Amino acid sequence: MSSEKTNQSWGGRFSEPVDAFVARFTASVDFDKRLYRHDILGSQAHARMLTQAGVLSEAERDAIVAGLDEIRREIEAGTFEWRVDLEDVHMNIEARLTERLGVVGKKLHTGRSRNDQVATDIRLWLRDEIDAILVELNRLQAGLLQLAETEADTIMPGFTHLQTAQPVTFGHHLLAWFEMLSRDHERLVDCRKRVNRMPLGSAALAGTTYPIQRQVTCELLGFEAIGGNSLDGVSDRDFAIEFCAAASLAMMHLSRFSEELVLWTSAQFQFIDLPDRFCTGSSIMPQKKNPDVPELVRGKTGRVFGALTGLLTLMKGQPLAYNKDNQEDKEPLFDAADTLRDSLRAFADMVPAIKPKREIMREAARRGFSTATDLADYLVRKGLPFRDCHEIVGHAVKYGVDSGKDLAEMSLDELRRFSDQIEQDVFAVLTLEGSVNARDHIGGTAPAQVRAAVKRGRELLAKR
Ligand code: ARG
Repeated sequence: MSSEKTNQSWGGRFSEPVDAFVARFTASVDFDKRLYRHDILGSQAHARMLTQAGVLSEAERDAIVAGLDEIRREIEAGTFEWRVDLEDVHMNIEARLTERLGVVGKKLHTGRSRNDQVATDIRLWLRDEIDAILVELNRLQAGLLQLAETEADTIMPGFTHLQTAQPVTFGHHLLAWFEMLSRDHERLVDCRKRVNRMPLGSAALAGTTYPIQRQVTCELLGFEAIGGNSLDGVSDRDFAIEFCAAASLAMMHLSRFSEELVLWTSAQFQFIDLPDRFCTGSSIMPQKKNPDVPELVRGKTGRVFGALTGLLTLMKGQPLAYNKDNQEDKEPLFDAADTLRDSLRAFADMVPAIKPKREIMREAARRGFSTATDLADYLVRKGLPFRDCHEIVGHAVKYGVDSGKDLAEMSLDELRRFSDQIEQDVFAVLTLEGSVNARDHIGGTAPAQVRAAVKRGRELLAKR
C-alpha cells in the first residue's frame, strides 16, 4: 500500500496511514466544496449556540465566527487550498480554522458530528436552491401569461392523437403550460417545508452529552422545525428524493413544452418562429435553424429522472443511521437542481420571444374539419340525439374529404343533403370564431375565458 499522511481528525486509533487511492476514492471534497457557504453558516450558528450553552466563551465564539468569515473570503477569492487528504468540505474548513486560530479552532466540533453537519448543510443549500428555482419558475409563468393575453384571440388547431381535433385559441394552449407549472410550484413549495427541518444536534446518531439548545440553532438558521429523532436526523434523505421527484415532474412538463416547440418550428408546422439567439445552425446544411434550446431541455430531462432513481436506490435498504453511502447523495442532487434551474431560466428567457405565425395557425385550424363537433352540437340543438348527429356529420366529412371542401366551404344545399335540419344559421357555428367563442365556461378555450384565466393567473402570481 502506498501511503499519505494519516488524517489528523480521526487518525488517533489508526496504526497505518490510509492508502493513497482509498483516500481519493472515499473523499468528497471535489464536489461537496460547493456547500462551503452553508457549511460556514451552520458552523457559525453552532458556535453561537455553544456559547449560550456555556460550552464556549464569548471570545472563543467571536474568534470562530470571524475566522470562518475569513475562510469564506479566502474560498471566494480562490486562495483557499482544498486538500483531498482532508476528505470533505467540513474537514477542510475546520482544519483551516485550526491553522488560523490554534486550539480554539479545535473546539468548534464539540457536540456535533459530520453526520448531522452534512445533513444540515445539504438542507440549507437545497432551501436556497429551491428559492432560486422558484424565481425562474415565476418568471416563466409571468411570460406565459403575457403571451397568452396577447394571443387570446389567435386560433390554432387543437390536437388529440396529434390529429386536428377542434379549434382552440393559442392563448388557451399557453395557459395549459401555465397550469402544469403552477402544480410544479405547489410541489416545490411543499417539498421546501420538509427540506427546512433541522437535523443539527443529532450529532453522530444518538444526540450529544452537551447541554445543546437546538431551538437556538433552529432559529439562527431559519429552520421551521427541529428533527424529532437523532437517528432519523442523520440518515433521512427523503427531502432530497422529494425534491428530485418534484424536479422530475417539472422537467417532464418542460420536455412536453419543448416537444411542441420543436414540432411547431418545423417546416411542416411553421406555427411559430423562435428568435435566432435560441437556435443554432448546421455545419453542413446552410438552410438549417435548429431549435437547440428546447431540444436540449427535452434531452436533459433524463438526467433528472436518473437522479431520482439513483437516490431512491441509494436509500433503499439502508440500515439506520448514517452510512457512507449517503455521501453519494450530493452529485445527483446538485445536478438535478442545476438542470432544472438552467432549463427554467432558458425557457423564461425564450417564451416572451416566441413569435406565432397567426395566419398559418389559422389556416391549419380551418383545414382538417376542426369544426365537425360544432356541427354535431348544432344538430343536437335542433332536437336530434347526439349519436345520430355524430353519424350525419361523419357523412358530411366523408363528402368533404372526397370533394376537397371543408365544412364551412360547402353550400347550404350541399350540407342539407345530410340533414334537412341544417339551415342558414349553421355558418355561424362552422366558423373558427364561432367554435372557440362557444366554449365559454371556466377552463374553456373562448378568448373571453383566456382573458379571465390570465387575470386569475396574475392574481396567483401576486400572492406568492
Ligand atoms: N463527506 C461525508 C458525506 O458527504 C460527510 C459525513 C461523513 N461522516 C462520516 N462518519 N464519515 O456524507
